Amino acid sequence: MSSFRGFGKVILLGEHAVVYGYPALAAALERGVEVSATRGDGMLLLSGLGAPEVRKRLPALLPPEFRAGEDALISAYQAILGSLGIDPRVLRHDFAVRSELPLGSGLGSSAALAVALARAISGALGLGASEPAIAAAAHAAESVFHGNPSGIDQAIAQHGGFGVYRRATGLVPLLADSIPLCVGLTGRCHETRTLVQRVAELHRDEPVMTSRVLEGIGVLVQEGASAVLRGDLVALGHAMSRNQEELAVLGVSCREIDTMCTLARGAGALGAKLTGGGGGGSVIALAPDDPEKVRAAWRSAGFESFVTTVGSGAEPLA
Ligand code: MEV
Repeated sequence: MSSFRGFGKVILLGEHAVVYGYPALAAALERGVEVSATRGDGMLLLSGLGAPEVRKRLPALLPPEFRAGEDALISAYQAILGSLGIDPRVLRHDFAVRSELPLGSGLGSSAALAVALARAISGALGLGASEPAIAAAAHAAESVFHGNPSGIDQAIAQHGGFGVYRRATGLVPLLADSIPLCVGLTGRCHETRTLVQRVAELHRDEPVMTSRVLEGIGVLVQEGASAVLRGDLVALGHAMSRNQEELAVLGVSCREIDTMCTLARGAGALGAKLTGGGGGGSVIALAPDDPEKVRAAWRSAGFESFVTTVGSGAEPLA
C-alpha cells in the first residue's frame, strides 16, 4: 500500500485579492491530508477531522441513476479522473483519506485532499502523472468545491514551503526560514465559494472602493514577502494586521474573527488576521516569543487552537 500527501496551507497575506490577479503570500502547514490506495471494490473512506468516518461508493460501481453533481466529493473524484484521462471502470481500488485538517476551516483541506487523491489515483494505476498533470487534476477537483479558485491553495498543497502566488504566473517559491504561528479555530464553518461571491458582489456594486482595497492588499503582500525573506517578523505581523483591516472592509471578517484578532494582539502577537476565505474558519497570529499566551487568551474565550511552524516541507517545482 502506498500513501500520498497534500499539504494544508495558511495564507499569510492576500486572500481574495488573489482571485483578482493580485499576488498572495502562502505557506504550507505541517498538517495535511494523506490518501492511500489498495486493491478493492471501489470505496472511498474518509477519516480524521474529529468527525465520524464516512464511506462512499465510487462511481464506476454506482447505480446508473446516480447523478454525480449530488455529491461534491464524488464529483471531485470524477473531475480528477477526467483530467487524468482515466476510465473509472479500470480503477478497482479503495482509497482511504485521512485528514489532519478540519474541513471548512480555511486551512486548505479540500486542496490538500485534491492533490493527495490525484497522486494516489495516478500511483494506483502506475501512471506516473507529471506534476503539471497533478496540478491540472487537483485544479479540476478544486473547481468542484470552490467554483472559481485562484489556484493558490492547490499550488501550496502540492509544493509546500512558502510562495508568492499570482493567477498569471503561478507559484514562485520563497526560500526563507519557517515561521512559528498560532492557528485558532473560530468554530464557525465557512464556504469559500460564498465568501468569494460576496466580494464579487461588492466589486460589482462598489468597483472603485473595492479595487482600491484589493490594490492595497497587493502592496501589503509585497511588503510581507520581503519581510519573510529578511526574517523580519515585526514587519510581517504589521502587514498581517493591516491586511485584516482591509479584509474587514471587504466584508469577509466576522465577530469571532474580530474577537480572536483583538485577543491575540492583546496577548502580545505581532499581527493577527483571518486566513483563507473568512466568514469563520481560522485565524492566524504571529507570536514567536510567547505563542502559549495567545492560545491561553483564545482558550479563555472558548476558541481551540494549535501552534505550528509554516513554510517547511517544500518540494521542487516541476
Ligand atoms: C481561499 O483559501 C483563498 C481565496 O482567495 C479563494 C481563492 O484564492 O481561490 C479566498
